[in-house]
Amino acid sequence: MADVCVITGGGSGIGLETAKCMPKDKILVISGRTQAKLDAAVAELEELGYEAYGVPCDVSVRRDVHELAVISSLKGTVTNVIHVAGVSPSMADPETIIRINALGTVYVNTEFRKYLGRGSVIVDVASNSAYALPNMPLIKGTYELAETDEDKFVQRLLRGSVGRNDYEKSGLAYSFSKNFVVWYAQKCAFEYGPIGIRVCSVSPGLIETGMGAAEKEASSELGFTAKMIEQAAERRMGKPEELGFAIATIADERNGYLAGVDVLVDGGSTNGEKFR
Ligand SMILES: NC(=O)c1ccc[n+]([C@@H]2O[C@H](COP(=O)([O-])OP(=O)(O)OC[C@H]3O[C@@H](n4cnc5c(N)ncnc54)[C@H](OP(=O)(O)O)[C@@H]3O)[C@@H](O)[C@H]2O)c1
Repeated sequence: MADVCVITGGGSGIGLETAKCMPKDKILVISGRTQAKLDAAVAELEELGYEAYGVPCDVSVRRDVHELAVISSLKGTVTNVIHVAGVSPSMADPETIIRINALGTVYVNTEFRKYLGRGSVIVDVASNSAYALPNMPLIKGTYELAETDEDKFVQRLLRGSVGRNDYEKSGLAYSFSKNFVVWYAQKCAFEYGPIGIRVCSVSPGLIETGMGAAEKEASSELGFTAKMIEQAAERRMGKPEELGFAIATIADERNGYLAGVDVLVDGGSTNGEKFR
């Protein structure tokens, strides 16, 4: 049976660039909500010599994710699950952001875990926005609710997503959702490690995709993104292909000792405050 690499959010941006960095002997299953986007991405990957399939799936719907896991496992041995799908502050309201980014990660990790064997890997994509939150030891109790009481989990995070306007509220919900992804990937790493499944997360900085451009535009008056670029060691936005390469490297089986951590791929912008 051939090895299968599943990439949620693989129809565009960072997810599609990650697909292009995977070894060609793996079957690629890319997913997202928009069939037309998946069709175009599959055509591009086939042109490059990949065997690729597009499977529609909304990661905020557990049944969809379960079906994606079943379909993927029927194509071969699932060895890599790269969970890139997500929405940013200018794209959705706070509740939608929390349901897609945070609960979507719970569904992807737990549904695929059932089909993964020893030597497989899950990489969850978070964001350097996860680091924008102050250190909050009490949040762990709320994060644990994601697996036991979803509505309470969502309500608690919504209560914390305060702001002067809708964009600020969505921004805080986004930071919470991605801070959760970092925490949850670590939790899964320790739970799944003993059964041979490696888990880690990756936090991109500001990247030149449709999403990155939309956030740059939406926050231009507030100056967040300009500050992020100015503070970065690289002094620029990242390129989607740079993230694709980083994520594919982290997901490579040869990186077997990289687990239970978040890898910050942000050109140095998070550490910029210390040095600029
Ligand atoms: N670009 C940045 O500056 C940046 C910075 C930090 C973190 N990130 C993170 O990186 C990831 C990729 O972002 P990107 O920049 O590559 O943006 P993108 O091109 O918009 O990619 C996001 C992908 O996720 C899919 N998606 C969104 N909601 C989904 C859902 N409910 N179910 C399944 N698929 C869904 C989208 O396809 P459909 O709309 O067709 O579903 C799209 O293909 C996101 O998780 C984002 O939060 C990006």
